Amino acid sequence: MQAWRVHTPGEPREAMRLEEVPQPVPGEGEVRLKVLAANVNFPDALLARGQYQIRPPLPFTPGVEICGETEDGRRVIANPSLPYGGFAEYVTAPARALLPAPDTLDDAEAAALHIGYQTGWFGLHRRARLRSGETLLVHAAAGGVGSAAVQLGKAAGATVIGVVGGKAKARTAEELGCDLVIDRTAEDIVARVKEFTGGRGVDVVYDPVGGDAYTASAKCVAFEGRIVVVGFAGGTVPAPALNHALVKNYAILGLHWGLYATKDPAAILACHGELVRLAAEGAVRPLVSERVPLDAAADAVQRVADGTTTGRLVVVPSLDGGAR
Ligand SMILES: NC(=O)c1ccc[n+]([C@@H]2O[C@H](COP(=O)([O-])OP(=O)(O)OC[C@H]3O[C@@H](n4cnc5c(N)ncnc54)[C@H](OP(=O)(O)O)[C@@H]3O)[C@@H](O)[C@H]2O)c1
Repeated sequence: MQAWRVHTPGEPREAMRLEEVPQPVPGEGEVRLKVLAANVNFPDALLARGQYQIRPPLPFTPGVEICGETEDGRRVIANPSLPYGGFAEYVTAPARALLPAPDTLDDAEAAALHIGYQTGWFGLHRRARLRSGETLLVHAAAGGVGSAAVQLGKAAGATVIGVVGGKAKARTAEELGCDLVIDRTAEDIVARVKEFTGGRGVDVVYDPVGGDAYTASAKCVAFEGRIVVVGFAGGTVPAPALNHALVKNYAILGLHWGLYATKDPAAILACHGELVRLAAEGAVRPLVSERVPLDAAADAVQRVADGTTTGRLVVVPSLDGGAR
């Protein structure tokens, strides 16, 4: 089968190589899946660079979530067992963690319903306890994780402010249903939030970016607000001033969604049920901006790493890419 592999960590476009390799053999408690679609996540770039919290043995195949088909013909959503990630024709995955892919979504959308939406759900509901009528600010609102949080925030009855980098992303955030969109490249985030909320600030911040985004969040979070720390796509891990959190009465909440797989797997299943229901109602729908063939996977991972994409880029092996 064909699979992209990283032999030496580096920038995705150089580090990932498309190779002919044997199909992976399922280990104890695992099944083999045919990959129908593999969604590109920012952590794939971190994996390729050797900067992710998990470092699979070299060589490895990136690709952390897929929609696949079991050998008995079921369409499922899965997190492949690294080092055999999703940018390949076949993967192995733990049998007990397979989730049914909803019929209302195609393969690419189903592949993108998992990590981003589960992270959004756990961040907004379990960690921040977002309530209807509250104001939610989402950084990188047109991105993968961000677009999911915008849809989930609207579905929960919140007023949603989306912060994005650039005009094209601003249009995407508007189409997603943001009540206010702030272009961080042209506008002052704190001033715009204060103006929009009558000086009060926002109740919940969902932050996959860190760095300057975190600094702005601390300045415009409301009394008893909650900042959910989701990621550091901007490259800088913020060092928050705890005296500031004390004087303004806000909470800083860490979120590592992957931990729930071992700490509370039943909650992941329950969340999936909610997501399938919301998808069936049309309240959420993964924003798949591009479906690309397998031979374009490295380029797709690089573009996500560069921060230039909107929504999700999904690798679909059945698409014919030709020679690239
Ligand atoms: N905590 C968890 O459990 C968990 C789970 C899944 C993902 N994550 C994290 O969530 C973050 C987003 O992941 P994603 O897959 O959804 O990616 P993404 O949002 O599609 O891409 C990252 C976005 O971050 C913004 N950004 C700002 N500065 C950037 C820079 N210097 N380089 C690249 N991007 C920059 C860009 O949006 P703008 O230009 O609009 O600002 C960019 O589109 C990642 O940090 C990832 O590790 C965390």
